[in-house]
Amino acid sequence: MTQDEMKKAVARAAITYVVEGELVGVGTGSTANCFIDELALIRHRVRGTVASSEASKRRLEGHGLPVLELNDVERLPIYVDGADEINAAMQMIKGGGGALTREKIVAAVADMFVCIADQSKRVDVLGRFPLPVEVIPMALRHVLRQLAAIGGTPVLREGFVTDNGNLIVDVAGLEIVDAVGLETRINQIVGVVTNGLFASRPADVCLLGTAAGVQTLTAA
Ligand code: 5RP
Repeated sequence: MTQDEMKKAVARAAITYVVEGELVGVGTGSTANCFIDELALIRHRVRGTVASSEASKRRLEGHGLPVLELNDVERLPIYVDGADEINAAMQMIKGGGGALTREKIVAAVADMFVCIADQSKRVDVLGRFPLPVEVIPMALRHVLRQLAAIGGTPVLREGFVTDNGNLIVDVAGLEIVDAVGLETRINQIVGVVTNGLFASRPADVCLLGTAAGVQTLTAA
């Protein structure tokens, strides 16, 4: 199976988690795009969606799927999204597409987080993928200094502005053993909107695309 076929396979498998007649939280990225395309095939079975980015919103609406504002939603049974890395505890690095803040907000509301990923995303230790951090523009220099003090190599993502009008700093060279601790510590830096560690709220299940088919993983 190619990486693309794995993404499509996990997207298809995630459809079984969609609750009949309910809302679906939808992530961002190439794997989430595969899920959106699958969701379009069963659009008559869902009440609507909540999108984690403008790009996903456009794709959902392009398929004729209703997109609701999160503030108009009381309850979200599931959130389906990809990841840049996921470990055995179902903790993730996300934000390769720069949508980490809205992803984290929608995930926080959802009862269940279904991560869909190909096998290249499964790691023992988080941190080989540079950790994205969303930053208020006027705080950039301050945040860069604070992130360097933590031990990583922070680099501004050139020419990129988030859906919230902010910047992304990617922090390379981290070997993340205490993911909850680091998530909390980075979020306490003044000027940081949020960071791409999804450790305090990990995935509930990961549908992992492998050469042998889709594996269903839960926290070890
Ligand atoms: C976007 C994300 C994505 O979920 C993550 O980057 C994975 O993307 P892809 O499915 O394209 O590999 O966090 O902000």
